Amino acid sequence: MVKKIAVLTGGGDCPGLNAVIRAIVRTAVYHGIEVIGIRDGFKGAVENDFLSLGLQEVSGILPKGGTILGTSNRDNPFAFTVQKNGQSLQEDRSDQVIKNLENAGAEVLVVIGGDGSLNIALALSKKGLKVVGVPKTIDNDLMATDFTFGFQSAVETAQEALDKLHTTAESHHRVMVLEVMGRYAGWIALYSGIAGGADIILIPEIPYDIEKVAEAVNIRKQNGKKFSIMVVAEGAKPLGGEMVVERTIAGRTDPVKLGGIGAKAAADLERMIGLETRVTVLGHIQRGGSPNTYDRVLATRYGVAAVDAVIGGKFDTMVALKGSEIGCVPLADAVNRLKKVPLGDPVLLMAQKLGINFGQ
Ligand code: F6P
Repeated sequence: MVKKIAVLTGGGDCPGLNAVIRAIVRTAVYHGIEVIGIRDGFKGAVENDFLSLGLQEVSGILPKGGTILGTSNRDNPFAFTVQKNGQSLQEDRSDQVIKNLENAGAEVLVVIGGDGSLNIALALSKKGLKVVGVPKTIDNDLMATDFTFGFQSAVETAQEALDKLHTTAESHHRVMVLEVMGRYAGWIALYSGIAGGADIILIPEIPYDIEKVAEAVNIRKQNGKKFSIMVVAEGAKPLGGEMVVERTIAGRTDPVKLGGIGAKAAADLERMIGLETRVTVLGHIQRGGSPNTYDRVLATRYGVAAVDAVIGGKFDTMVALKGSEIGCVPLADAVNRLKKVPLGDPVLLMAQKLGINFGQ
């Protein structure tokens, strides 16, 4: 029987992280298992920055955004940045992570993360560490689970923004463009666009033809609708073109920071239609704030399931949602391949039947 586990949150934060931590601690306490929290993701695992987590520490955190443990989307222990003789070098510190956990008496590491952190977890498991993953990300781009926690809250935030953009678009007879996150997948754009009544949704999975977008706006105009709402996923790209990269950041699991396609699509569109365009980039607002009801329940279910997996000896797995059931899948099935919106996705097909234009 496992007596002590460690938990960390890695990668970009998202609503529901604290709800998972709370569920893990409460379930572990119920089973008489001790929990150690690791500060700032894998950074704390390398630097031995641990704290004890009991009922007191997780009291009142269910509705709080962010993570009480802190997080980082750099600090891969297999390529850990260190300063030596005034120079920045990358070293493999994975053995240190395993040693630190051993010294602390933690037998299993629970990693709450997206594909970057779960890839690291998988690599650590290959070195003998027992790990259990919990699928986190607003992007919903993890394979082997129907939904990651945090996604629905981000969609709700984007939908609220669209509701507000609608009223000003209508008053000014403009095309309002909302650029949303999601990295290389269009899930946030697709779901928020449907929920927010968008007329056009551009996603990375369907390279767009700006002439088709202009046509859709013009048809609306001819039908008396002098405004349009367009949601653009940050990873969207024009036919034959590339994604817009805001900058690259060295030392990160994914050095590419996307951003700017909303402005490009809006400028190109404005030249082709007789209406003004305006762009809103929603950015990190999508990652902040309290988790919605769906995510509070999902995050709690994931946290309880992670401890159940530990007790059941189901190591090197990730807890996952399949339909209405939570189960465990091999960690290797969840990482290395992003879950993008399939062209036959029923929600995408439904949106097309509604007449939403995807730049085609
Ligand atoms: O993966 C979550 C996410 O918010 C993506 O949607 C986005 O592309 C990226 O992280 C932004 O990263 P950062 O917080 O480094 O700006």
